[in-house]
Amino acid sequence: MKLLIKNIKKLVQVREIAPTAPIKGKDMDILPCLENAWLAIEEGLIADFGSMNDFPGISDWSNLEVIDAQGKLVFPSWVDSHSHIVYAGSREAEFVDRIHGLSYEEIAARGGGILNSAKRLEQASEEELLEAAHTRIKEVMAQGTGAIEIKSGYGLSLKSELKMLKVIKKLKAQVPLMIKSTFLGAHAVPLEYKGNKEAYIQLILQEMIPAVAAEGLADFIDVFCEKNYFTPEETIQILTAGKKYGLKAKVHAEQLSNYGGVRAGVSCGAISVDHLEYVGEEEIALLKNSNTIPTILPGAAFFLSLPHPPARKMIDSGLPLAIASDFNPGSSPSGNMNFMQSIACVQYKMTPNETINASTINSAFAMDVANMYGSITPGKKASLFITKEIPGTDFIPYAFGSNLIETCILNGKIAIEPISINSNLI
Ligand code: NIG
Ligand code: FE
Repeated sequence: MKLLIKNIKKLVQVREIAPTAPIKGKDMDILPCLENAWLAIEEGLIADFGSMNDFPGISDWSNLEVIDAQGKLVFPSWVDSHSHIVYAGSREAEFVDRIHGLSYEEIAARGGGILNSAKRLEQASEEELLEAAHTRIKEVMAQGTGAIEIKSGYGLSLKSELKMLKVIKKLKAQVPLMIKSTFLGAHAVPLEYKGNKEAYIQLILQEMIPAVAAEGLADFIDVFCEKNYFTPEETIQILTAGKKYGLKAKVHAEQLSNYGGVRAGVSCGAISVDHLEYVGEEEIALLKNSNTIPTILPGAAFFLSLPHPPARKMIDSGLPLAIASDFNPGSSPSGNMNFMQSIACVQYKMTPNETINASTINSAFAMDVANMYGSITPGKKASLFITKEIPGTDFIPYAFGSNLIETCILNGKIAIEPISINSNLI
């Protein structure tokens, strides 16, 4: 099937030649766009685009669907490079505990937090997990996400970690989003290993990593590098073991304290280090000498009332920055990439151009899919969305909380259609 989108008010994030590296520093405030454009899709890929002024016309109408995007913008789908959307239950009781003054760390110390989710996940069947994750995927798809990384890490035993990763594998076969999966066995020390973390690390190294790799269940390996979780040394040990099995490194770094996660990640050649609320000058200098992509997760900092990550400082230092949702039941129960950008604009003083680059091309690099996602480039996947009639790109983070996305096209097929409002109901 072929699709033609015509009369596009603005075609956003147009890169004729696919970028070979993330956009960094001052360039992040440049968002290449084409006004009054058309876009042709063939075989699930972006075939061509151009200005309506030079529209070549349609020579072959067979199998062609035409969408008129008058007054509307077309964006490449959001790329969400960090999520934990396979989980059982929800944790709003902890949310209320925090409102009453408890911290994330205090809640975790009383058996809440990640261990709370691990307990529930153990009891859930693969089918239940799959259905719940599928519902969440459909939600983020309607919010414009076309590629998403999903982590394990609520299993914390060989059996349950494999269960989570198998759910991710099944999801891949069910939905049109591009999914990459990450093994996060080192998300927390499970209850049975309390006081014996070394034995749990040995389980990760000796049994979990080989089993995950043998079944080809993960692309990346991640560690929560934080006080009461895993030290920088342990992080390096685990990431190094994963690398031997072809798993690329990622780190949950400097989220609750300045603890050395960035240094550990950079020393292992991590593809990204994520969170970064407590990043300082030293980490910025390390990142500048690396190919590791700093990734901020505004939903988690917002929801846990953490200090703002120094996004402005990182960009002004010449670094690239990616944005992801961290969608999970404890620290970010939302995968709405539009809202993540609003937070980054309002609280971190990023410009809309910067947040759009951070949520498309840069996050595509952070999950290793920039060859096919993250920009309007001929030959890339036709995964994109058409907005409602809006004034311009800045309107997306400005109008926070509104759903401005009307049509989602994934792999060249319409996945979400405009909702027709029955005026009798108004
Ligand atoms: O990315 N920081 C560690 N892990 C998750 C939170 C997990 C949870 O609370 O369930 C995060 O914020
Ligand atoms: Fe996370």
